Amino acid sequence: MNDSLTVRDNRTGQEYDVPIENGAVRGADLGKIKDGEGSPLAVYDPGFVNTASCKSAVTYIDGDQGILEYRGYPIEQLAEKSTFLEVAYLLVHGELPTKTQYETWVHDITYHTFVHENVKSFMEGFRYDAHPMGMLLASVGALSTFYPDARDINDDEIRQLQIVRMIAKMPTLGAWSFRHAQGKPFVYPDNELGYTANFLSMLFKMSEDRFAADERLVKALDVLFILHADHEQNCSTNAVRSIGSSQVDPYSAVAGGVAALYGPLHGGANEAVLRMLRRIGKKENVSDFIDGVKNGDERLMGFGHRVYKNYDPRAKIIKKACDDVFEVTGVNPLLEIAMELEKIALEDDYFVSRKLYPNVDFYSGLIYEAFQFPPEMFTVLFAIGRTPGWLAQWLELVQDKEQKIARPKQIYTGHRTLEFTPASERWA
Ligand code: CMC
Repeated sequence: MNDSLTVRDNRTGQEYDVPIENGAVRGADLGKIKDGEGSPLAVYDPGFVNTASCKSAVTYIDGDQGILEYRGYPIEQLAEKSTFLEVAYLLVHGELPTKTQYETWVHDITYHTFVHENVKSFMEGFRYDAHPMGMLLASVGALSTFYPDARDINDDEIRQLQIVRMIAKMPTLGAWSFRHAQGKPFVYPDNELGYTANFLSMLFKMSEDRFAADERLVKALDVLFILHADHEQNCSTNAVRSIGSSQVDPYSAVAGGVAALYGPLHGGANEAVLRMLRRIGKKENVSDFIDGVKNGDERLMGFGHRVYKNYDPRAKIIKKACDDVFEVTGVNPLLEIAMELEKIALEDDYFVSRKLYPNVDFYSGLIYEAFQFPPEMFTVLFAIGRTPGWLAQWLELVQDKEQKIARPKQIYTGHRTLEFTPASERWA
């Protein structure tokens, strides 16, 4: 088989052979196709729906089959049998750790959970009602000022240190963003606790000596972190890579990832799901709501995915985690509305024909609410889970010799060569 594409440019009558590698043609090869005036052919692809921006060995997704694998391991097995920190190691290092490597990794991450006291004063300066995602993105970005060595992105030892620091400190920053909005004192990390148990302690501890979270809740949250740990070239990872391509330090790149995740079409969707369920109010209103979605008045939040067109494997695992959490906390009354929505939508031709299925965010909000997180915190939890993925992708980017500074083309549609008249004459 000849792995190439033969293209005939009808504007010029010229034929070109464009090599196909890994199922893709290179944009630069298409650029060799020129019109009569020598302008190269470009690819117009808003939202990158069919453009690969990198080669990656981190995460594999088959959207039609509903498959998600980190470094080759199926998400179902990792969620059931691994821990978030082991998955983080796997993502960053590409392989599962040996016992010694794992112990060192956990020790190092635990050791770095504290942040500089000035970070605390900085976070205290936010308005009383600041959105925790705004606080998180600002404080992650601010870490770059505490670790100027992070700018040396070509030194592997320095890179690894920043990776450990960031995975370690995200829960501290996330928990403090939450405490700030509640007017409660910040809780320092408890390094006798595991990663997720410590996070819960920093969120909920009051005057007790040690916060002891229910083990089933710790496990459920750990699973949620695993499910969110990476998702190949999604909007926020693309933001991290795009910013990282300028060779800036990883804190600044990850702050960009947090910003991208903040948006309602990405990490903010689970918050939007809960608001939607609350607005629907009761099971009997579901059918009217679905009619509104079909008329184009609104979106069914938590449904649909750019990649998964069969089902989102993470949604299945989350549904199971829902049962485990509700066993401890009692059932969330919104669950009934969510299940009715899912039932009607999965039978309705509008959703079936567009291959719209529940995504990871459809049920995660219900679990987070059972933990008594306010909706503004949901995306913070997503960000903590996604941090190892962002960092694994950043690491891959900075070591990839083929990568260049991200700089897409545009198709210019504006005016040209207008004659400028000074304001004093225009307004006379
Ligand atoms: N409700 C109703 N209609 C929808 C929805 C939805 N949630 N999602 C897509 N559609 C329709 C859309 O109107 C379009 O219909 P038509 O062909 O008639 O114009 C068709 O389905 C294709 O949609 P699209 O907008 O071209 O698909 P996309 O790949 O650009 O968007 C998406 C993917 C996730 C942004 C979108 O499905 C959506 O907005 N979903 C709701 C928000 C949401 O749950 N986001 C979380 C995504 S999962 C978390 C993550 O991995 O980040």
